[in-house]
This record gives sequence, C-alpha cells and structure tokens, in this order.
Amino acid sequence: MSAVTNMHKNSVQAAVPAISGSKLNIEPRRVGFEYSDLTSPFYYAGNSCVSALWVAMSASFPLGEAEFIKSTCFYESQINDEKLLNDVRMFSQQEAHHSLQHKQINRLFAELGYPIADLESVFKKKLKKRADCWSPERRLAHTVVVEHVTAVMAHFALTQEQSMSGFPASIKALFQWHAIEEIEHKSVTFDVYQHCVGDRALLMRQYYYFVFFEFPFQMTMASRFLIKRQGHKVTWAERKVLWNYLFGKGGLVSSVKSLYWMFRKPGFHPWDHDDSALVEQWKTKLAPYFKNH
Ligand SMILES: [Fe+2]
Ligand SMILES: [Fe+2]
Repeated sequence: MSAVTNMHKNSVQAAVPAISGSKLNIEPRRVGFEYSDLTSPFYYAGNSCVSALWVAMSASFPLGEAEFIKSTCFYESQINDEKLLNDVRMFSQQEAHHSLQHKQINRLFAELGYPIADLESVFKKKLKKRADCWSPERRLAHTVVVEHVTAVMAHFALTQEQSMSGFPASIKALFQWHAIEEIEHKSVTFDVYQHCVGDRALLMRQYYYFVFFEFPFQMTMASRFLIKRQGHKVTWAERKVLWNYLFGKGGLVSSVKSLYWMFRKPGFHPWDHDDSALVEQWKTKLAPYFKNH
C-alpha cells in the first residue's frame, strides 16, 4: 500500500472518533413520586395550554424512548469501544425507566380526562410507518436530534426556576429527575452515530426537519386535541401565558435558544456545552426521591 493511500486511510480514521465522549457517569436511578398534588387537568398554574403541552410530551415519551433504544442498539454489534458500549447499556436502562415513570403519570393524566390512549395510537402508527420506511441510519440520526433537543430542554428544567414553579412539586421533581439523566447520557447516541454512520448531511436534514417542522407541529396538534377533548375553550389570557412560557424571559425556547442552535456548528459535540456541574448540584437536591441511593 502506498504512503499516500496510508495517509488517506489514517486521515479518514482520524475523522471518526472511536471513543465515548461522555463526561458524566450514566447512572440509572430508581425513583418514586407521589402525585397527590396532581388534582386538576390544568395543573400548571391553572393554564390549559402549558399543562396540555407537557401532557403531550409525556404521552410521547414511552413510545419515543423505546424507539431511541431500538435505533441505537441496532448498532451495538458495530461498537468496538468498551466505554461507548457501556454508555449505550446505561442509556438504554435510563430511557426504559423514564418510560415506566411516564406511563405511570400518563395513567393519572388519563384519569383527569386526557385521551392518552388515542394520542398514543397516533404516535404508534407514525413510528411503525417510520420503522418500515426509514433506513437504520435515518432512524438513528432522528434519535440523535431528539436527544439533543431533550438535553437542551433538560437544561431549561434545571435552570429556569420561575418557569418551573407553575408545576405541582411532584411533577416538577419528575421532570427534573428526567432532566439530570437526559444530560448525563446526552452524548451517547451522538457518539454512536459518529462512530457507526457519520453522515453529517443526513444528521442536519433530520435536525431541520424535527426542530422546525415535526416537533412544533406535533406538539401544537397534540395539545389542541387534548384541550378540545377536555371540552375547554382556551382564553387569550391563557395563550399569553403560553407565549411567555415559550418565548418570554426564562422561556422554553428563548432562554436556551443558543443551545438548540449550537448543533449546527461544524465539529459540534454535545459536551461542548458543559453542564456537568449543574447535574451534580441537582443530584443532591433530588436525592430524597432516589430509591437506590
Ligand atoms: Fe428519557
Ligand atoms: Fe434521552
């Protein structure tokens, strides 16, 4: 083999990181939340819009997280880095446990009159179609993008106390526990993608599709459906609260906009934004909810 070919081969290999970039220990935790303070369908400060938005997210988690695990574990046999393999296992355990916890609260949302089963059947059909039609590469790229968005929302949940203060304490704790684990494993699917697929153009197409179309469209339609089935007519005052919750000071979009956006930077890695200290801080705060500590 010529020196030029060798050089080319080495430069290609060097462009694909073969090791895990995880910064934190990925630790699946058992948790227990009592939801005795969940007494109204409009549990977020009496606001139907913000409440329904989070019911829609929660309803999407069990099926969504199962898809994250499947699309990532499909590549397990191609991973030759022990740390990354271990990351994938811990990530899968964390996501599986998130699903269980969200199934539990979704049952309570259903008891409060939300048509969770109907919403889930829509998500199920979409994911089934996707599993039949999308390549494994595209499914993993989509998972990487959703994991990025989730990690950014997790950062929001741990930093914007005023926006989080509208939730009953138990739901706030559920989201914040979920948030610390989302940050812990935020680079796993990205590292698997870089290692096994590495197609940046495909990743960016999925990013724009999800961030600017699928996610806002799906959440808007799902929230409207949930509120309609509650027989509730949304007021302008409620819409204004939702607008501020998303785009106002400390908002779910506005306060972390640069973090959503940084995915586009060439050479981006999820740990370019280091929020490990934040996770350490919240592990202590949420310790009373952890059962295996
Ligand atoms: Fe999760
Ligand atoms: Fe996740």
